[in-house]
Amino acid sequence: MSAKEPWTARVLTVFPEMFPGSLGLSLAGKALERGLWALDVLDIRDFARDKHRSVDDTPFGGGAGMVLRPDVVDAALAAAVASDGEAPVIYLSPRGRLLDQALVRELAAGPGAVLLCGRYEGVDQRVLKAREVAEVSIGDYVLSGGEPAAQVLIDAVVRLLPGVMGNEASPGEESFERGLLEHPHYTRPADWQGRAVPEPLLSGHHENIRRWRLEQAKEITRQRRPDLWARYRREQDDG
Ligand code: ADE
Repeated sequence: MSAKEPWTARVLTVFPEMFPGSLGLSLAGKALERGLWALDVLDIRDFARDKHRSVDDTPFGGGAGMVLRPDVVDAALAAAVASDGEAPVIYLSPRGRLLDQALVRELAAGPGAVLLCGRYEGVDQRVLKAREVAEVSIGDYVLSGGEPAAQVLIDAVVRLLPGVMGNEASPGEESFERGLLEHPHYTRPADWQGRAVPEPLLSGHHENIRRWRLEQAKEITRQRRPDLWARYRREQDDG
């Protein structure tokens, strides 16, 4: 019987040097060392067919920038999928579904993800269609490539994997986990530049502390994120 494979990110990029990057440090880096997740980086250039190892070409119809070729991307995806046929294939793109904590949880519950990072103007649409690639965006702004977005996605997933957070706070009260932004935090000194720590936190009364934090979380969400607040209210009403 073979041991269960850890959650695996298979990243397809023309800049493999960008990995592991920040994922090699801190919480994600330690978890990587401990084998709680795995990273497999494929250089798209290795799948080029000509002697110049070209991966892109000019866009049909004209316009600025270069487009990643479908044949090259297809060969790279075929290799990634051969190693892991179960994991979802995701192209990081500002046109994609917005990444949120629900999607992060969904991905963390699966076997891993194949993450295609675009550069230049993008990827030929035909290969995205042929391979039924899902598109995911990390926000309404444009990066110069998908690599930082892939790193954001991986970081968010890895911290949810079993054993990664260890003794640190469980994700239960964090922002988004229950549809609210998180309450504020305080540490020593109890009086800093004449600013006191809110009284309930010094009381040692766990139920009061829990209630105070929940009220703060609600108030911050109401003020800062009317969209989340409306959804939270709806979900409370529904059940
Ligand atoms: N590539 C470029 N911009 C991006 C974004 N906002 N999200 C994901 N991938 C991207």
